[in-house]
This record gives sequence, C-alpha cells and structure tokens, in this order.
Amino acid sequence: MPAWLLYTVFSLIFVLASTALFFFTLTRGALIMRAVLGNSRHDAAHVYPIYSNMWLIRLVDFQPVIAAILLFQYDRLVSAITSGLNHMDLRGKTVLITSCAFGNVIPRVVTAAIESGARQVLIADIIKNELDHAQGKLSEFSGKLQFLQENATAMKQADGSVAVNVIFFLLHELPHPLKGQALREAARVLAPGGKLYLAEFHRPDVWVLRALSWTYFKVFEPLGLALWHTHDPLKQLEAMDGFTCERRTVFFGNFQILVATKNLVA
Ligand SMILES: C[S@@+](CC[C@H](N)C(=O)[O-])C[C@H]1O[C@@H](n2cnc3c(N)ncnc32)[C@H](O)[C@@H]1O
Repeated sequence: MPAWLLYTVFSLIFVLASTALFFFTLTRGALIMRAVLGNSRHDAAHVYPIYSNMWLIRLVDFQPVIAAILLFQYDRLVSAITSGLNHMDLRGKTVLITSCAFGNVIPRVVTAAIESGARQVLIADIIKNELDHAQGKLSEFSGKLQFLQENATAMKQADGSVAVNVIFFLLHELPHPLKGQALREAARVLAPGGKLYLAEFHRPDVWVLRALSWTYFKVFEPLGLALWHTHDPLKQLEAMDGFTCERRTVFFGNFQILVATKNLVA
C-alpha cells in the first residue's frame, strides 16, 4: 500500500475515533461520572454537558456538524414541521417550542409560526444557557418571544394554552418515566384543535441501518432505544385518547415526525 494511502487511512481513523471519544465524554460518559459521584438526583441530571456548558454549546452548534449527526436529514425534518406551520392559521395564537436544539430549527420554526400569524412564541428549556444561546439566534423576533426556564415534564403553562407545541429530539434523551410525563405535559398544554409536532429517532426498516443505529444508541444514548418499542411516542399518544395522530418516517425509517392533533371534543 502506498505511504500516502496509509497516512490517509490512519488520519481518517484518528479523526473518527477522536470525534467519537469527544462526544462520548460529553454525553454518556458525563452521565456515568455523575452517577458515580452521586450527583444525579436533580431535575437536569440527564442533560449532557454539551447542552449546559456555554463554551461547549458554542463549540458544537455548527449546522454541518448537527446535520451530519442527523445523517443529513435535519433540513428535511425541520421542513416537515415548518410546512405544517405554514398551513395553519395561527393568528393571535401562542406557539410553544419545548426544549432548544442546535442548528437552525428554532429560527425556522419561529419564522414559520410568526408568518402564520402567531402572537407569541414561547421557548422553554430546563437549561438557562441553552435559552441564552437560542436568544442570540433570534434577535429580529425579540418582541414576540418569551424564553422560559422550565422542565418539559412539569410545565407551568395552563391547560389548553398553546395552539402548537414543537418538540425536536428531546424524548430520546429523557429517562424512560419522563418520556411519558413530557408527552402528557405536551398534551395538557395544547388547546383543542392544536397540534403537537414531534421529531425523533425511529426504528430503521433496513437491517444494516438498524444495526448501526442500535450500536450508536448502546454506546452514546442508551435512553433512546426504548423509542423503538416500549416507549414508542405514537403508542403513548394514542393511549392518551383525544388525539388524532399521523406518523411519517424518513431515511429508511430512521427518523419520525409525529403530528398529534388534539380533538375538539375529547
Ligand atoms: C432537544 S435535545 C437535543 C436535540 C438535538 N439532539 C440537537 O441536535 O440539538 C436538547 C435540549 O433539551 C433540553 N432538555 C433536556 N431535558 C429537558 C427537560 N426535562 N425540559 C426541558 N428541556 C430539556 C436540553 O437542555 C437541551 O437544550
């Protein structure tokens, strides 16, 4: 094998291994350390340092990196939500985004909501640094936004107070009992006729992708695998009654977009 090819292969392996180690340390590795140190009893104990430390938030939040993490389906997933919002009449209504996310999802959702007439958009997250970071991307909408430090599993909003609730890749990071609790809260705050848009991982249809995805979850995000079976959000929402749900999967079933509409007469 020529020397240049050998160097290229080793460099590639080195970069991939370093990236994997970086993300492991700042995600699952940090949670293991927290548990070992007995520091895992507070409400935000499941939140990775990449979402709580401002320096790390700024380091990781680059659109190409985030797009790659979602296998370059990020834009498609966000577009599925924004095109739904574009078709709604939100005049005078309140839209809620439950939990921040990297990339341009929040500015795009806010833009779509306001173009459809929303009076205000509430952005809720358990971590103040995430809210501050999101605020930095949204200066042009400042009069219409409220940033709320809140727990998705115990929201302070009144019953039926929002017309839309958007949850983008939160559930797979929550401990299992909190997944159902977050969905119940999302359902509670939604007004009759309102819509919950939920983007998440899904069990892939193709075995190769399923094997890769399973390995990814086992190593980095073990709380996510339950979405494939015991904590399928569609089943959880349907079990609540009072919702009409549609699920669309993309990229060989690796991702899902759920739209749950709260029935007018529950
Ligand atoms: C939505 S998830 C990650 C999304 C996706 N992986 C991405 O590309 O950014 C991360 C966000 O959820 C927030 N979060 C985690 N648990 C929460 C909870 N119980 N209530 C509200 N926000 C929460 C974290 O603070 C963080 O801002």
